[in-house]
Amino acid sequence: MKESVEKIKGFKEKKNAVILAHFYQEAEIQEAADFVGDSLELARKATEIDAEIIVMCGVYFMAETVKILNSDKKVLIPYPKAGCLMADMVFEEELKSFREKYPEYVVVTYVNSTAEVKALSDICCTSANAVRVIESLDTDKILFVPDRNLGEFIAEQVPEKEIKLWEGYCPVHEKIPIDRVKELKKKYSEAVFIVHPECRKEIRKFADFVGSTSKIINYVKESVEREFIVGTEEGIIYQLKKSKPEAKFYPAYQEFICDQMKMITVERIINSITEEKYEIQVKPEIAEKAKLAIEKMLAVK
Ligand code: 13P
Ligand code: SF4
Repeated sequence: MKESVEKIKGFKEKKNAVILAHFYQEAEIQEAADFVGDSLELARKATEIDAEIIVMCGVYFMAETVKILNSDKKVLIPYPKAGCLMADMVFEEELKSFREKYPEYVVVTYVNSTAEVKALSDICCTSANAVRVIESLDTDKILFVPDRNLGEFIAEQVPEKEIKLWEGYCPVHEKIPIDRVKELKKKYSEAVFIVHPECRKEIRKFADFVGSTSKIINYVKESVEREFIVGTEEGIIYQLKKSKPEAKFYPAYQEFICDQMKMITVERIINSITEEKYEIQVKPEIAEKAKLAIEKMLAVK
């Protein structure tokens, strides 16, 4: 692992590039990055970067968000086909028609969405700040786009608001088999079950803790427990082990992997830095509107 980390760092220094990485990246990529975070932290970090080149190791919408917040910088993604399957579950025309038909609804969009969809939204949110974002709005009528599972989780916490849910979901979190969870809970009866809110309600029901990737990491850090069943992508286990080396972590199902995130590889990162590829471009009229929705989210404390 050390060799690939050193290799990336060497190329990065030569180009004066900054590497941002999501918690679902391979361990060596997280190790080589200048900053590792969840979607909210990555979006915030993007506003503070002082480098000409930013390489985003994550899926496309994450790189697009960085570009929208840094229009004057060169933002690269090592592999442009690394998309988020949930982000593709919104057809803009349908969202436009909804807005026309129901102008009284405020559209709250999860950052796991395209720039075009963000541009059609009133405000963005991540799984770390979704409840705060919705509570900050002085309206009771909300359309939550695109994740119905996260939307349902928020609706449970803000019952005073009427939250309509878009029919989108993350296929990686959606497919956790309930039987495997029951089996693991039986086998490791002392283990704490931690899950991401992109999981279905029937899975969340069994959870001891539900939160975004960074919230899960903080929860484990502060917990006195020593065994955890992990209900989110396996990349996070690298951070969990780092914060609690003596603990045991069991993935909620074998191969709990987001193939899209894993399209970012060490070789592709090196190619990206040396060739300055693949540059993210967002049409100015889209970027301008999407930026408003992202900045509104960042202003929510
Ligand atoms: P976080 O915002 O919790 O890092 O989640 C991003 C994501 O894509 C989860 O599948
Ligand atoms: Fe998108 Fe799901 Fe992968 Fe997260 S885990 S990036 S929501 S496909």
